[in-house]
Amino acid sequence: PHILILGAPGAGKGTQSANIVDEFGVEHVTTGDALRSNKEMDISDMDFEYDTPGEYMDAGDLVPDAVVNAIVEEALSSADGYVLDGYPRNLEQAEELADMTDLDLVLYLDVDRSELVDRLTGRRVCDDCGANFHVKYSQPEEEGICDECGGELVQREDDTAEAAENRLDVFEENTLPVVEYYEGTDEFVAVDGEQAPDEVWSDVKAAIEAVT
Ligand code: AP5
Ligand code: ZN
Repeated sequence: PHILILGAPGAGKGTQSANIVDEFGVEHVTTGDALRSNKEMDISDMDFEYDTPGEYMDAGDLVPDAVVNAIVEEALSSADGYVLDGYPRNLEQAEELADMTDLDLVLYLDVDRSELVDRLTGRRVCDDCGANFHVKYSQPEEEGICDECGGELVQREDDTAEAAENRLDVFEENTLPVVEYYEGTDEFVAVDGEQAPDEVWSDVKAAIEAVT
């Protein structure tokens, strides 16, 4: 299936996408991870405010559309089934996406802002494999060490309180209109993202099973 997962920063898109990949064998197309692997890419010839994606990301601002659209178009062209995570983040990107592909399901993980700051600032990620943990909600067996691969757990540059608040402002201003854009369509399903991770997963799984 072609699945789009929407939600604010920290809503659990990465967490649930990993479950979807495991259960349904689709590809995870994520602009956040793709951009993190290309933080130092030289975009100075495109005449934007900054010369690399990383400068936008660390501040919690959106990377320019032209850069992100190209990444998604390339990734979707080689994917059969996928879960798309982190895109579209504004209405211009949503229009681009409509020209690239059809969607079977648009999932929206709904979480209140007050909860999101806590999730973001408490998140720790594995430096080696990218696995996700949280200092309160999903602790590793040994503090600071990844359960999956033994790698070191670190905080993302954009999970500081200041960058996290900015990302939430950017979400409300640019991405909530995208949620509203899909809300009226048949493919749209909202899930209560404030439940425990496995409860969110059971709702997400049921929504996917209903379209496959
Ligand atoms: P991106 O990597 O996409 O970050 P994001 O959207 O801010 O999302 P996160 O990864 O922070 O959160 P998530 O929803 O995946 O939550 P997670 O599962 O990790 O983007 C980063 C940057 O790249 C952007 O700021 C921008 O600069 C750039 N970018 C990306 N796409 C772009 C685009 N299309 N256009 C322009 N620029 C773009 O969960 C968070 C934490 O909560 C974890 O610690 C987790 O363990 C915990 N948790 C998860 N679920 C639960 C639960 N149910 N209960 C309790 N805790 C939970
Ligand atoms: Zn790891």
